Amino acid sequence: MAKTNVNYFLHGGDYNPDHWLQYPDILKDDLKMMKDGKINTVTLGVFDWSSIEPSKGHYNFDWLDKIFEDINKIGGRVILATPSGAKPQWMSKEYPEINRVDGNGIRHTAGFRHNHCFSSPIYRREVKKIDTMLAERYGKNPALLMWHVSNEFSGECYCDLCANNWRKWVKNKYQTLENLNESWYMNFWGGAYSNWGEILPPNPLGESGVHEGMDLDWKRFVTDMTIDFYDAEAKTLREITPDIPITTNFMADGPDKDKFIPKVDLDYSKFAKHLDVVSWDSYPAWHNNYESLAETAMQVGYVHDQFYSLKHQPFLVMESTPSQVNWMPYAKSKKPGMHMLSSMQQIAHGSDSTLYFQMRQGRAGSEKYHGAVIGHDNSEDNRVFKEVAEYGKRLEKISEIQGAVKEPRVAIVYDWESNWTLNSAVGFGRPTKLGVQTLQKHYSIFWGQNIPVEIVRPDDDLSKYDLLIAPMLYLQTEDTMSSLQNYVRNGGTLVSSYLSGMVDSNDRVYLGGFPDKLQKLFGIKTKEMDTLHPNEHNTVKFGYTKYRTHDYDEVIEATTGNVLAAYQEDFFKQTPAVVENQFGKGKAYYIAARMGRDFLKDFYEPIIDQLHLTDDFVGNPEYEVSCQTRIKNGNKYHFLMNFSEATHTVELLKPAIDVETGEKVDSTIVLRKYEVRVLREA
Ligand code: GLA
Ligand code: ZN
Repeated sequence: MAKTNVNYFLHGGDYNPDHWLQYPDILKDDLKMMKDGKINTVTLGVFDWSSIEPSKGHYNFDWLDKIFEDINKIGGRVILATPSGAKPQWMSKEYPEINRVDGNGIRHTAGFRHNHCFSSPIYRREVKKIDTMLAERYGKNPALLMWHVSNEFSGECYCDLCANNWRKWVKNKYQTLENLNESWYMNFWGGAYSNWGEILPPNPLGESGVHEGMDLDWKRFVTDMTIDFYDAEAKTLREITPDIPITTNFMADGPDKDKFIPKVDLDYSKFAKHLDVVSWDSYPAWHNNYESLAETAMQVGYVHDQFYSLKHQPFLVMESTPSQVNWMPYAKSKKPGMHMLSSMQQIAHGSDSTLYFQMRQGRAGSEKYHGAVIGHDNSEDNRVFKEVAEYGKRLEKISEIQGAVKEPRVAIVYDWESNWTLNSAVGFGRPTKLGVQTLQKHYSIFWGQNIPVEIVRPDDDLSKYDLLIAPMLYLQTEDTMSSLQNYVRNGGTLVSSYLSGMVDSNDRVYLGGFPDKLQKLFGIKTKEMDTLHPNEHNTVKFGYTKYRTHDYDEVIEATTGNVLAAYQEDFFKQTPAVVENQFGKGKAYYIAARMGRDFLKDFYEPIIDQLHLTDDFVGNPEYEVSCQTRIKNGNKYHFLMNFSEATHTVELLKPAIDVETGEKVDSTIVLRKYEVRVLREA
């Protein structure tokens, strides 16, 4: 982990002692229970502005001083949040401009959280003042480990100040109105601007969902403004405490509302560059009623890997739950053993922490039924507490792994802008775009065989990967196409698919069909796209096997490419469905139709063989048993995790030591339901 001086895994979480100032006994119990629960870190200060500055200019740091003192006494560390995630009531009243204005032009009143204007000079001034006070007061405190700026940045503001910043941003980017009107294709529906002053943020009362280039720029602008706000806070902190690393907690970027994964409209790949350490809040729906445990684990694994990949470095899980997530439609408990398994999975994928929301379950408020280390019963004889303590003990035993990295040779390309434009496109199958889900489907093939994967941007250094997977890369700039070409020309293997390379960075379709660079790279021309109804299928013959297509059948023509599979039905019967093309020293594959995992597994098998990607530790990979590997000081650490209720026998191809017991393990390991073993290759 960047720049901190700890050499153990962080275990702890969000703690709000200010909610309990009237209960001195509770505060005493907290400290004892933290020790007994093997908690070494607390996150203080999230949403605590009104406890620090209860009224304008009147400060109360006593409670915070006291908790710092107590945490020092028990040898713990503090991640200190700046309070900007929730502004005090008095401030909203005194300075209405700090309150966010929504897309309908309505200014919100005080209260709630994550609802300030990012532009307001007054809010920035107040934030700077309070951050300075916190940094000066606690900057040298030995317990201070890290800054946690604000909380889960998200959302947008449409106030006049923000609209002005938007106009400046637009003018700076496009310089002339001609250029702007052309870039945003404003003549469509008669929207052309004749004056910069006419430009408003896209909003539901006027422009939105029509001029998609404008919507895309708005998302870029919101990302820039959010980063600018974060940077202002980070600057204040860095000036006073240059050695304390800074983070802010990210959320999972998933469009799947049914699964209650929050949808985040910020480009984290840009944002991450401004952080010292990446951290995120992980709330998977374990034990749900729509997929297997292994399936949930695979998707969470993907997200962990994505956060690892933002800096190609260990990250922190800033929040997770010891038991229930109260805001899900059904707040299911974790079954015995699931806490150990799900938390170890975080570490296995590259986290250097397991932190929770929350340390103590609130007495009231909308999160009073959210899981916590310490429940309403205030008892150590509580199953959740015991499982947390047991996990803490195991984390201590494997602390030598803290800071260990990963060395994947496979990468999946994910581009926030491309995914935004794909999702906003009015066309194709509206419910069946499933961009992220498609990437996860490809990921699942590798996860199932314990082959590590990174999730990278098109402008990352691609040369370190042997296999690059870039399906549905809808928006591609000329630079992206060139780097894909260079990657393959120099010997890389690339896999792409339908719905790729269709629009430019202004969300305008490339004229003349599939861009020339991509035609050469894949050895194909694209002809037309057929979107299928649910339950409508074609058949593709690949080798001797037939596979069903769904959602998308793209009709293509092979030029220099070698046809590996063809459609079996419909008016494009016998035309190519999968094409392989030699380009320079490498190979590029184009998959024209959407097919299931049965196809992907068979498709990737020879590629995995040729590139020798197979895991050489577990001899009998099974989907329900995941093996993830971290590397440190020449040591390889393998986490074996059984994401099922059945017992599995794992065959090891190499001798290994159990990290927790120091004992040599047999070449055959029996993993019971939910069991996790942590091994070091001998
Ligand atoms: C988010 C927030 C926390 C809390 C949790 C509950 O991650 O950051 O303050 O509300 O959700 O799951
Ligand atoms: Zn605003």
